[in-house]
Amino acid sequence: MTADLAIVQVSIFLAMAAVFVPFPGRSAAEGLYFLRSYYLGVLFPLSILFSIVNSLAGLYTRVRNWATSPCLWRAASSATIAFVLVFMIASRCPHFEGFPLRGWMIFAVLAVLGTAGIRLLKHLLFEHEVQSRMGEEAVLVVGGAGYIGSIVARKLLKKGYRVRILDSLIYGSSAIDEILTNPRLEFVRGDCRNIQDVVKAMKDVRSVVHLAAIVGDPACDRDHKTALQINYAATRMMIEIAKGERVRRFVFASSCSVYGASEEVMTETSQPHPISVYAETKVDSEDALLAAATETFHPTVLRFATIFGLSPRPRFDLVVNLLTAKARQEKLVTIFNGEQWRPFLHVSDAASAVVKMLETPVRIVGGQVYNVGDSRLNYTLTQIADKIRQVFPETRVEHVDNSDRRSYRVSFAKIQGQLGFTCSKTIEDGILELKAAFEQGAILDYRYPLYSNLKYLQQHGSPLQTDELGEQVMAALAQKPSMNEGVVESLSASA
Ligand SMILES: NC(=O)c1ccc[n+]([C@@H]2O[C@H](COP(=O)([O-])OP(=O)(O)OC[C@H]3O[C@@H](n4cnc5c(N)ncnc54)[C@H](O)[C@@H]3O)[C@@H](O)[C@H]2O)c1
Repeated sequence: MTADLAIVQVSIFLAMAAVFVPFPGRSAAEGLYFLRSYYLGVLFPLSILFSIVNSLAGLYTRVRNWATSPCLWRAASSATIAFVLVFMIASRCPHFEGFPLRGWMIFAVLAVLGTAGIRLLKHLLFEHEVQSRMGEEAVLVVGGAGYIGSIVARKLLKKGYRVRILDSLIYGSSAIDEILTNPRLEFVRGDCRNIQDVVKAMKDVRSVVHLAAIVGDPACDRDHKTALQINYAATRMMIEIAKGERVRRFVFASSCSVYGASEEVMTETSQPHPISVYAETKVDSEDALLAAATETFHPTVLRFATIFGLSPRPRFDLVVNLLTAKARQEKLVTIFNGEQWRPFLHVSDAASAVVKMLETPVRIVGGQVYNVGDSRLNYTLTQIADKIRQVFPETRVEHVDNSDRRSYRVSFAKIQGQLGFTCSKTIEDGILELKAAFEQGAILDYRYPLYSNLKYLQQHGSPLQTDELGEQVMAALAQKPSMNEGVVESLSASA
């Protein structure tokens, strides 16, 4: 606000100088009169309007992100409106005629460009800060060998970051083999339930992206104990180690499935209503993280929509990918009910959102929860089937009724409004890239167990925690007073 006010005063002075100085015959007394009557008498008191209009436009709201072009546009518009108000009021004051139109025009241009320009400058300086930080600090990506993580790691490397991946490689290393030789990548094979592995991975790290989990309702339901350990207890342990290691940012992958079933459009302030163990572990981890926020530890929770699209670790247990693969291989897709709403998000856009969180000042994203997706990508499953049929016209769509009525629509206004985040890829893009992967032979059969978390875990069993101390720590941290009884009962049953 102070900088904006200073810009307005400087603009006024320069405009006055531009109309006064070109006439050297003028006396100092005339100059003082000019200053007193126009500046002190009219323009200075009216300049407060700039602060008022800028405040109303939200330019000084803490959560506004000056780094985005919508904000530059908002700053320029707000300064224009303030100038018009100043001009209209001044035109009713005595002496108005004495300040030529040329002066007003110079004032307008300088004030508008200055208000937007100062934000651009701040953005460029911040970018520079990010660039210079990239060389020094590693970003730790926990679960970096997975469907989303393998793309996050690639995007960070491409931007010049040093990246460290901690992953136990449940589903193998094929998604990161190609980047393991990158000199800016360090790979730690380890378990996020194991204290030593986590301490080792967090050394000299200032930013953590936590993606490791047993992912999906069915995969969690086959072994509640392991799901609770990895998805919740390990998060609690990582928070403490991160704080000890002076980690500043902690970006956590949650899920829109925390909203359960609802007729309303869900926002970040809607009450979560988890109806699966998977969603419950996400809500509990979110709570633990947000409660741990301090002046120096800044967690950010990302509630991803249901993801689709191709990744170095392909997954065909996600609805768009699965239906596309079935249409391609079997010319038949089965839709259960079909009228349920779901929000969707391309895997590459999910990874971009993670990078965006790492590059936005912590004063904006610290302690925040964001739904990650795009309001244009809320679809019913029947609509998804229609889109698939447009690409694979021979597909037969079979509708089956069952009791699963889980349906939710999600608002992504917060991430779009604050950070200017929108998705670059549509459902059609995802279907077409999967089709191309089949045609090129990159994917042979979607039923290959490695492409489904549940199938793979059924075949190979749960990832065991081999460390005895770690097992005890996990057992202690998996207990949560507010955990609903159903989960506790199932935990004891499966333990
Ligand atoms: N894919 C989606 O549709 C979706 C939607 C919402 C949220 N998410 C969340 O995003 C995150 C990433 O999902 P994804 O689709 O990439 O899953 P994924 O299963 O492909 O990847 C998970 C990765 O974590 C690793 N991992 C699991 N347990 C580990 C442990 N104990 N220690 C170290 N590494 C371990 C696995 O080896 C794997 O590489 C998850 O937290 C998930 O809940 C995903």
